[in-house]
Amino acid sequence: MKNMQPIPQHSLCKNHGGRLAMFSLALVLLLSLSSSCSEQEKTSLLQFLGGLSQDGGLTVSWRNGTDCCTWVGITCNANREVTEVSLASRGLEGHVSPSLGSLKGILRLNLSGNSLSSGLPLEVMSSSSMVSLDISFNSLSGGLLELPPSIPEHPLQVLNISSNFFTGSFPSTTWEKTRNLVALNASNNSFTGWMPSSFCISSPSFAVLDLSKNRFSGHIPPGLGNCSALRVLKAEYNNMIGTLPDKLFDATSLEHLSLSNNWLEGTLDAQHITKLRNLIFLDLAVTGLSGKMPDSIGQLKRLEELHLEHNNMSGELPTSLSNCTSLTTISLRRNNFQGELAKVNFSALSNLKTLDLYSNNFTGTVPESIYSCTNLTALRLSVNKFHGQLSKRIGNLTSLTFLSLTHNNFTNITNTLHILKSSRNLKALLIGVNFRHEVMPQDETIDGFENLQVLGIHNCSLSGKLPVWLSKLTNLKMMLLSNNRFTGSIPSWFNTLHSLFYIDLSNNTLTGEIPAALMEMPMLQAEKAYLDMKYFELPVYLSSAYQYRSPNALPQVLNLSSNDLTGIIPLNIGQLGALASLDLSFNNLSGKIPQSICNLTKLMVLDLSNNHLTGPIPAALDGLNFLSELNVSNNDLEGPIPSGGQFGTFLESSFNGNPKLCGSILTRRCDSAEASPVTTLLAKQAIDKTAFVIAFSAFFGLGVLYDQMVLSRVFG
Ligand SMILES: *[C@@H]1O[C@H](CO)[C@@H](O)[C@H](O)[C@H]1NC(C)=O
Ligand SMILES: *[C@@H]1O[C@H](CO)[C@@H](O)[C@H](O)[C@H]1NC(C)=O
Ligand SMILES: *[C@@H]1O[C@H](CO)[C@@H](O)[C@H](O)[C@H]1NC(C)=O
Ligand SMILES: *[C@@H]1O[C@H](CO)[C@@H](O)[C@H](O)[C@H]1NC(C)=O
Ligand SMILES: *[C@@H]1O[C@H](CO)[C@@H](O)[C@H](O)[C@H]1NC(C)=O
Ligand SMILES: *[C@@H]1O[C@H](CO)[C@@H](O)[C@H](O)[C@H]1NC(C)=O
Ligand SMILES: *[C@@H]1O[C@H](CO)[C@@H](O)[C@H](O)[C@H]1NC(C)=O
Ligand SMILES: *[C@@H]1O[C@H](CO)[C@@H](O)[C@H](O)[C@H]1NC(C)=O
Ligand SMILES: *[C@@H]1O[C@H](CO)[C@@H](O)[C@H](O)[C@H]1NC(C)=O
Ligand SMILES: *[C@@H]1O[C@H](CO)[C@@H](O)[C@H](O)[C@H]1NC(C)=O
Ligand SMILES: *[C@@H]1O[C@H](CO)[C@@H](O)[C@H](O)[C@H]1NC(C)=O
Repeated sequence: MKNMQPIPQHSLCKNHGGRLAMFSLALVLLLSLSSSCSEQEKTSLLQFLGGLSQDGGLTVSWRNGTDCCTWVGITCNANREVTEVSLASRGLEGHVSPSLGSLKGILRLNLSGNSLSSGLPLEVMSSSSMVSLDISFNSLSGGLLELPPSIPEHPLQVLNISSNFFTGSFPSTTWEKTRNLVALNASNNSFTGWMPSSFCISSPSFAVLDLSKNRFSGHIPPGLGNCSALRVLKAEYNNMIGTLPDKLFDATSLEHLSLSNNWLEGTLDAQHITKLRNLIFLDLAVTGLSGKMPDSIGQLKRLEELHLEHNNMSGELPTSLSNCTSLTTISLRRNNFQGELAKVNFSALSNLKTLDLYSNNFTGTVPESIYSCTNLTALRLSVNKFHGQLSKRIGNLTSLTFLSLTHNNFTNITNTLHILKSSRNLKALLIGVNFRHEVMPQDETIDGFENLQVLGIHNCSLSGKLPVWLSKLTNLKMMLLSNNRFTGSIPSWFNTLHSLFYIDLSNNTLTGEIPAALMEMPMLQAEKAYLDMKYFELPVYLSSAYQYRSPNALPQVLNLSSNDLTGIIPLNIGQLGALASLDLSFNNLSGKIPQSICNLTKLMVLDLSNNHLTGPIPAALDGLNFLSELNVSNNDLEGPIPSGGQFGTFLESSFNGNPKLCGSILTRRCDSAEASPVTTLLAKQAIDKTAFVIAFSAFFGLGVLYDQMVLSRVFG
């Protein structure tokens, strides 16, 4: 060492300078290299593009010769590494290429809302950098694979695979590796087997779990109670059984708990429910719960929505319910709750918007305190045992759009209509099966109801005429006045009701002829104008099985059956080309079936039975391809039964009681002079028949709809 020659100063400097120059050169080279994404990443992205059969115009920007960091939907970091692929709702079709899994620095992949199909490659799922993966709203199928054992840990925080067609059992061990998982949404797929519960074993920040709309079975895993950060638990529409596990109530951060539409049992435990003091949304509807609503529910001060409909709960409502002052929705329909509603002080529930008590066993009068809930938009008390007169104070409920009182024992219809006429926002008023044997007020000062679209005053045995004030309800779409004792003729002002398309005046004692005005109803002539798509605040039941969310979904109906109408069927009935159902049965109509009836090509139901009609059945009726119910029995018709089209599907009972009719399905065969021209079943008819089946199925089960008994009892 001692003998070592000192390095001359200048040479050292020189040497140093050379290195610096070389370093700078390298730096320049490096910089120019990293100003573009790597070839490898570009190739991975181009492979993904290559897997698309429909690329939504991506090729315009995704060109090989250019820097992939500048491509549409791509984000890179300072090192020109792809960190984000964001291609939601771009109309992409094809498959998800495994190559996306080889993007080394990818943090977020969002392919939501496309039409991608086939499986989710394990390479993508197991990317060692991915923090957020959203492939919701696609058509991906197959199973969701378990992460391989070679991957000890995974940085995933958000996984959204909802609204696809995934099947098979759900991964379980995978969630022990995702220690940062915050949100998992696998809703609206077809997963089967046990519901996993290992989420919180390793991830303390796990907050959102949505497994709703799948086919999970077995018990609700008590392990979810370990999820101390869990805010949202949704598992509605599955096949879960058993009781709510006690341990579940240890998840005290829960704000949204929804387990509706499962096969659970048991009761809502008073001590357990109070642990969930952060609950904002509780939905245990259609689960099979029984027992009382616990007093302790009053401690859920943040609760906004309470859904317990369609269970077997009973007993009185606890007084403490009025402590839940944040409530906006109380839905208890279809239970066995009973007792006086007045136990609850509704004045305190000033945020209440929806109160649905349909089909319980409540008694007494409507508590005055309800009239303080000025934000109420929907109030349904139907199918209970309420009685008494409506209070004037209901006029305070200025936001009310939906009111159903059907099937109680309310009295004084005059009073009721006078109070409600000035409710400007009221769109649906259903008050049938009340006011038994009262008189329909004719008073012309009933002149409000400006926005009423649906009026149901059926099954009241009301007497009097069809009042003139009805003619002022120019927004009315549905008029249900069946099963009363209305007298007089059908008024000629009907055609002033421009929006009306559902008219049921059946089972009254109306006389006179079918007025010409009815043949001019604009909404029975043309397709419904969907001017107001506004939905019912609450689903309306036409029977226990069929519910309607919008008045527009109701069919076009003219039902004048079971009255004392005389004269002929108007010759221009064929103008009502939009009718889906025409029922003129059980009247005293005479004359022929007008030829123009064959123009009612939308008809699904035609009932002319039990009249005094004569002449032939128009042969062209066999052109009504949607007709599924026909009844012309008990008239005096003659000649052959048409044999083409839908007529092949009708039974003898459709024609009984017409001794002069003949045809192959009747005992009376036609002789050659009477025989109808042979209708050859063309291919077109076969196609029409298929169309019919589809249209009919889409029609909410028409058979039940026209079951008047059911209809009139339950509508509300
Ligand atoms: C992109 O270009 C490079 C070089 O020009 C070429 O080697 C590669 O095959 C191209 N990739 C694709 C997917 O066309
Ligand atoms: C994915 O993109 C959609 C549409 O922009 C957005 O609604 C969604 O929140 C995104 N997903 C994630 C996880 O950020
Ligand atoms: C998918 O779920 C995640 C987590 O809940 C959420 O952030 C994202 O917005 C969802 N995506 C869509 C399209 O709603
Ligand atoms: C899960 O995704 C569905 C859409 O598929 C969405 O409607 C739902 O709100 C999401 N759940 C949560 C908790 O964000
Ligand atoms: C369920 O998923 C299917 C298929 O992706 C989608 O069409 C449908 O809108 C989804 N339903 C809901 C309620 O999100
Ligand atoms: C409903 O609850 C009552 C007791 O309140 C019980 O007797 C009845 O069996 C239950 N019905 C069903 C279908 O669970
Ligand atoms: C009902 O609640 C209101 C408002 O909270 C209160 O003023 C009123 O005294 C209560 N009525 C009864 C009978 O407790
Ligand atoms: C309704 O309550 C009465 C007693 O108030 C009871 O006798 C009846 O069985 C109950 N009806 C139903 C359907 O629960
Ligand atoms: C309705 O109430 C009246 C008395 O207000 C009573 O006579 C009648 O029996 C009740 N009807 C029904 C069906 O409960
Ligand atoms: C019905 O209500 C009106 C007030 O609207 C009242 O004058 C009448 O006396 C009431 N009738 C009965 C029977 O209570
Ligand atoms: C016809 O209406 C009356 C009430 O006016 C009712 O008693 C009767 O049951 C109804 N008939 C049918 C078949 O619904």
